[in-house]
Amino acid sequence: MKIGCPTEIKPQEFRVGLTPNAAREATGHGHAVVVQRGAGAGAGFADADYEAAGAVLADTAEEVFETADMIVKVKEPQAAERAMLREGQILFTYLHLAPDPVQTRELMQSGATCIAYETVTDERGGLPLLAPMSEVAGRLAPQMGAWTLQKANGGRGVLMGGVPGVGPARVLVVGGGVVGTHAARIAAGMGADVTVLDRSLPRLRYLDDVFGGTFRTGYSSAGLLAEHLEQADMVIGAVLIPGAEAPKLVSRADLARMKPGAALVDVAIDQGGCFETSKATTHADPVYDVDGIMHYCVANMPGAVARTSTIALGNATMPFMLALADKGWRQACADDPHLLAGLNVHAGRLTYYAVGRAQGIDVTSPQVAIKGE
Ligand SMILES: NC(=O)c1ccc[n+]([C@@H]2O[C@H](COP(=O)([O-])OP(=O)(O)OC[C@H]3O[C@@H](n4cnc5c(N)ncnc54)[C@H](O)[C@@H]3O)[C@@H](O)[C@H]2O)c1
Repeated sequence: MKIGCPTEIKPQEFRVGLTPNAAREATGHGHAVVVQRGAGAGAGFADADYEAAGAVLADTAEEVFETADMIVKVKEPQAAERAMLREGQILFTYLHLAPDPVQTRELMQSGATCIAYETVTDERGGLPLLAPMSEVAGRLAPQMGAWTLQKANGGRGVLMGGVPGVGPARVLVVGGGVVGTHAARIAAGMGADVTVLDRSLPRLRYLDDVFGGTFRTGYSSAGLLAEHLEQADMVIGAVLIPGAEAPKLVSRADLARMKPGAALVDVAIDQGGCFETSKATTHADPVYDVDGIMHYCVANMPGAVARTSTIALGNATMPFMLALADKGWRQACADDPHLLAGLNVHAGRLTYYAVGRAQGIDVTSPQVAIKGE
């Protein structure tokens, strides 16, 4: 199979769909790899790294789309990229179709077979191609919060770990899933005094079993949250209710009870945010002030560490990418129901029920689609 990797063109996107190591695995499996010149530059991979891995460089995205049987990317295809997709071609990338009817329509019109990273599942009910980005955002959150707490950045001027004779920062993490757990571990590692609140008792039991000596846990009731808010130097929002907007757990009125210059890091901003006063910001201007409380609300946090994020994503996508290339998409999806769960669009038909429901489009069952009926 010929695998193509174009340069990402969404603004502020520095990741790349294929690492040189993934390219090497693919060529080792007997596939041809074509990479757009400069595609890896934002993540610190030189063209020469891809050539050394056996890939061929193309000067333009057009060339990549024209020649490749499968396109491997990071972000959903932009309008110019969608126009280059063709019937029979495989697209393997993040799609997030539910809120995006224009993209859905154009991917259906392209005739391509589109497999979305974010809906591929695993045997434990997790989302293995989303988890690495939650891990990155979680570990980054205390780092960005610590920066926000510095005086010059509008914060309280509190050091995460304190010093002998001065207590550490108090960090409250709301939501103890993938993001929250990684955030809490790093904050605790920086020496902060950390509490994680969650609504799931099984999750709280797990966190207490594994991290009991590292941070405290609490059941996320409005009362307990209010108590902790008053004490917190930093609050990290990491809740998720699958398929729904994030619940607003901290209101504007609550800010008045917080310490002036405290930092709110709303990682859940990509689902609307869990603080009433959150609005999405960018890496170029990440922090703003509401009533003396500093808000960090970057919707694509992993982009700040594009190299780590690219490698983490590549580690997770590589086995699926190789299965698709080795067996062809039909057999790969027939052999692996978790990969089949990623099939969103095939040959002009929508094959993902949640997107169909969201947009009122008839859905062809993915099982039917792989049989070619
Ligand atoms: N901003 C970014 O760049 C970025 C990157 C990655 C993930 N995210 C977002 O971070 C959020 C968390 O992702 P995740 O992978 O950790 O999800 P997850 O499903 O692993 O964890 C979410 C946790 O929230 C808990 N929860 C739900 N309602 C709660 C409440 N009222 N109080 C306390 N806890 C509650 C759940 O029990 C669960 O443990 C998602 O919105 C995700 O999209 C953002």
